[in-house]
Amino acid sequence: MRIILLGAPGTGKGTQGKFITKKYNIPQISTGDMLRKNIYLKNKMGKIIKNILEKGHLVSDEIVCNLIHDRIKQKDCTNGFILDGFPRTLEQYSYLSKNQIKIDYVLELILPYHLILERISGRRIHAQSGRVYHVKFKPPKIKDKDDLTQESLTIREDDKEESIKKRLREYKKETYPLINCYLNEKKKYNLKFFQINAINSISCIQKQIEKILKK
Ligand code: AP5
Repeated sequence: MRIILLGAPGTGKGTQGKFITKKYNIPQISTGDMLRKNIYLKNKMGKIIKNILEKGHLVSDEIVCNLIHDRIKQKDCTNGFILDGFPRTLEQYSYLSKNQIKIDYVLELILPYHLILERISGRRIHAQSGRVYHVKFKPPKIKDKDDLTQESLTIREDDKEESIKKRLREYKKETYPLINCYLNEKKKYNLKFFQINAINSISCIQKQIEKILKK
């Protein structure tokens, strides 16, 4: 089962990806997490990436496609994977077809702007593991502490208001056009492309995704 999770920043791709991974035992491949891992490790690539992410821009197609190329060759991807945050540009979309990487489901999460801001502004993360919380909707057991390690939670650098605005602009400009591509694929090749109302609670969306993945 190969799934693409599509949606603007803060619509819940990471949250639902974790659920699908657990339920169907396929890895969640989050390009955002992979990029942040490089920043956390403070390696050479991490320094370049940090600057781009903090400004709310997209990392180059070349870097991201190379990351995906190496990751999906790994053994745990044999039975499928979830692409969380990839493809994000027409170039990345073409990378999949050029490399004959067939996708079974594309799930788009849709959320109005004011709720995106509420979700992102309340997000807290455990930087080392990538575990995600929300002060109101998914609070940790102890305030500002990771449930498993009790280490402090932090706010993502790119979750500051200025970066959020830029990320949303990038989404509209670079990623939104992909929706037309998927609508076309749905019409022509019966691609299983589903648009999901992400206003609902985390568990409600999970149930909806479960139903979709049975189709
Ligand atoms: P990435 O990490 O992919 O960020 P994003 O797409 O902007 O998405 P987010 O992680 O912000 O949100 P999400 O949809 O996963 O929501 P979440 O589940 O956390 O990318 C970061 C950056 O990396 C990009 O800006 C770019 O620079 C670069 N990058 C990544 N991929 C790239 C690519 N392919 N090409 C080029 N550059 C790339 O949920 C948000 C919050 O809401 C959480 O606190 C959560 O607990 C809460 N929540 C979730 N669902 C619900 C719900 N139903 N109800 C209430 N609260 C909820």
